[in-house]
Amino acid sequence: MKAIEIRNKYLEFFKRHGHSVIPSAPLIPENDPSVLFTTAGMQPLVPYLLGEKHPEGTRLTDYQKCVRTNDIDEVGDNRHLTFFEMLGNWSLGDYFKDESIAMSFEFLTKELGIPVEKLSVTCFAGDDDCPRDEVAANAWKKAGIPEDHIYYYGKDDNWWIAGEEGPCGPDTEMFYDTGKPACGPDCQPSCDCGKYVEIWNNVFMEYFKDKNGYRKLEQKNVDTGLGLERMTMLLQGKETPFDTELFSPVMDKLKELQKVDLIESRRIIAEHLRSSMMIIADGGRPSNLDRGYVLRRLIRRLIRHMNKLQIDLNELLTLIDINVENLGEMYPELIKNKETIKTVIMEEKDKFQKTLANGEREFQKEIKRLKEQNINIIPGKAVFKLYDTYGFPPEVTKELATENGYEIDLEEFNKLFKEHQEKSRAGSEQKFKGGLAETTKETIAYHTATHLLNAAIKKVIGKDAHQRGSNITVDRMRFDFNCDHKLTPEEKQEIEDLVNKWIKEALPVTKEEMKKEDAIKSGAECMFIEKYPDIVTVYTIGDVSKELCGGPHVKNTSELGRFKIKKEESSSSGVRRIKAVLINE
Ligand code: ALA
Repeated sequence: MKAIEIRNKYLEFFKRHGHSVIPSAPLIPENDPSVLFTTAGMQPLVPYLLGEKHPEGTRLTDYQKCVRTNDIDEVGDNRHLTFFEMLGNWSLGDYFKDESIAMSFEFLTKELGIPVEKLSVTCFAGDDDCPRDEVAANAWKKAGIPEDHIYYYGKDDNWWIAGEEGPCGPDTEMFYDTGKPACGPDCQPSCDCGKYVEIWNNVFMEYFKDKNGYRKLEQKNVDTGLGLERMTMLLQGKETPFDTELFSPVMDKLKELQKVDLIESRRIIAEHLRSSMMIIADGGRPSNLDRGYVLRRLIRRLIRHMNKLQIDLNELLTLIDINVENLGEMYPELIKNKETIKTVIMEEKDKFQKTLANGEREFQKEIKRLKEQNINIIPGKAVFKLYDTYGFPPEVTKELATENGYEIDLEEFNKLFKEHQEKSRAGSEQKFKGGLAETTKETIAYHTATHLLNAAIKKVIGKDAHQRGSNITVDRMRFDFNCDHKLTPEEKQEIEDLVNKWIKEALPVTKEEMKKEDAIKSGAECMFIEKYPDIVTVYTIGDVSKELCGGPHVKNTSELGRFKIKKEESSSSGVRRIKAVLINE
């Protein structure tokens, strides 16, 4: 079965079971300012999981594009991906464990035709916070899973929370037995040997965790996630996702073009190219910050591996065409944005080639310095600087070093690299946590200020200046918009004055639900119209702003305080960034 058939079967199955099919949210979260990318299907639904009413009802299903970058350096092995698709179904205070498990079982065995004996499941073993999940285990038994295929594990395996705080609860995971021999007498689903592969996770969200501990959520929810690439690979009996139709056209082309045969490099190129194309299609652009930096790293890493295979970099255009052709049916946004994708990737390629040339110069300087001191080993710190600042991977530095009769201190480099990785990992976890837990008075006020700023920019710069991104923390806001020039001091002042005028006018902020087409007709502003469900929420501020948005917002602009622009700068090419604060006086 092809990936797209699995996706369609899934959505149709849950539709038959009373779920509304909602569109995939963009990879770049719109109203969740503190996360880099959408990393799970539940993420855009957090307000609804916490009790807000969803316009499409209490049973939802979708396919969600996700990017996870914590393991970016693992890509190239046989399973890690940065971009993947998560199929999900949700109950917002509707059904709970019994029905959720019965539906999962039916889908796996009847729709996908997986024999029962190939399935194992795991349930929460219980601890001081939450009892052993006998309800889930009994539901599995009732559905037809034999007792010896049901395993119990603790919080490490069978508890789901995004980050440190937020909605959470016990989960039950489904595993597929690949038929490989057990690695020993203790081989179980929790084992990493490859016999068992996790295919689906149903989270029973009944708690909210904060620094004071766990409290029960008023509304019990179900949140599930099924990894499409993995399921496709298993159903097709393939060893890796790269052997499925999602990747094989690009993988085959790479094999044809390569002058050096390295499977790991082919996988990295294919994976990072798909990921980069999806991010660009959703509005991402390379830069040195946050998500722009992730995209830059993905593109540069894939280019390095093309160099390793000695493939002409202009072939990138061929590879992009192949992906658009192959994946366009699943992701029409690739077809729509094909030319932009090409331009962005080729521009980044040119920049990177310059960087590489600069890196070589830096390398020669380092060699000269070492020669003067009669040292014949390049310190790890220098290797790391070449890596971090000039994008020189240690293996390239090593090659150059060997040519010049030098060695490199790989051990010190690895130590520095590990430290750096831990720091960035902690950073992204921090971000995810923030996204779920932080809906404070301050962030709500900044959210409304974002709408006012968006409207003011349109008045001052022009109607074609659109929002390209936003980011809010408790003490500042950031707003990206397209604009072909640096703002003049007068323009900045005018924008600031307009926002403050609207704050002073104490305009009411109102919310209404309407059909998407009516919202568009009414002239409501939004970033990605095709990504919204048929019924949308529109926030209106006096007669100055109307935007599609999930909220929340203040009731009246008088609650905002004084608005002050702190900085205006370039964010990426053709995109400007305003940093601003609200001052309580
Ligand atoms: N949110 C759950 C996960 O990411 C379904 O596994």
